[in-house]
Amino acid sequence: MNKDAPIGIFDSGVGGLSIWREINRLLPQESSIYLADSKHAPYGERPKDEIIRLSVKNTEVLVEEGCKLIVVACNTATTNAIDTLRSHYSIPFVGIEPATKPAAIATRSGKIGVLATRGTLTSELFLSTSAPYREEIEIIERVGAGLVPIIESGKLSEARDLLKRYLEPMVAAGVDSIVLGCSHYPFLIEEIKAIVPSSIQIIDSGAPVARRTAKLLQERNLLNDEGTAQLRFYTNTNVEVLSSFLQRLDAPPNEAQHLNF
Ligand code: DGL
Repeated sequence: MNKDAPIGIFDSGVGGLSIWREINRLLPQESSIYLADSKHAPYGERPKDEIIRLSVKNTEVLVEEGCKLIVVACNTATTNAIDTLRSHYSIPFVGIEPATKPAAIATRSGKIGVLATRGTLTSELFLSTSAPYREEIEIIERVGAGLVPIIESGKLSEARDLLKRYLEPMVAAGVDSIVLGCSHYPFLIEEIKAIVPSSIQIIDSGAPVARRTAKLLQERNLLNDEGTAQLRFYTNTNVEVLSSFLQRLDAPPNEAQHLNF
């Protein structure tokens, strides 16, 4: 595998661009191919076997494109499908899971909130990784039903009412941090900050995923430290929406392309 091969990144839509941004910040010389499987969003309401099937389909595209590592930039796909992906493919994978650990370590009130999809919150992986913390602290979970379709439509301000309904009970219960356990949710950060007091920490997993990606590439001698990155972004639905999210991130909006997958 070549060092200048791209990093592959996939999500059920535009949400994983919040992870792409962190990877691109940390590793600006790495080329990448981003797949937004918006046609099948939301993954969070689908059964596990379907999430696995979609994750395999996305992986096939990225392997075919010659990627050197794949970032599963979707908590729902990671918590339901990453074990299957790792057992079927020799390519290294980096996954994303809700950042329960840092929130649990830092809490003073002994209560944290986790906002994520149904698929993530009911997954065996989330249940087993969060179990040790539940002995010490209270984890107040909430399924963010309806949020992903709003983000996918690009009309972020329409998420306010749902966010209030999901977050106000967490605030009332006394959480001192809220974990954004879905890669789409960081795009709602302004709306979230307008609802929760500034003393509450909002935690997402973007930066740790980028660091893990860098470490894994380094360990495998695959880090690209020279040359110019080539960035490609594919969606199987609306190019305009993908393009508008790229613009929001100061990424090249003209690189948004349609691809059937
Ligand atoms: N962005 C995804 C996640 O991190 C999934 C959202 C969905 O499609 O339900 O969980």
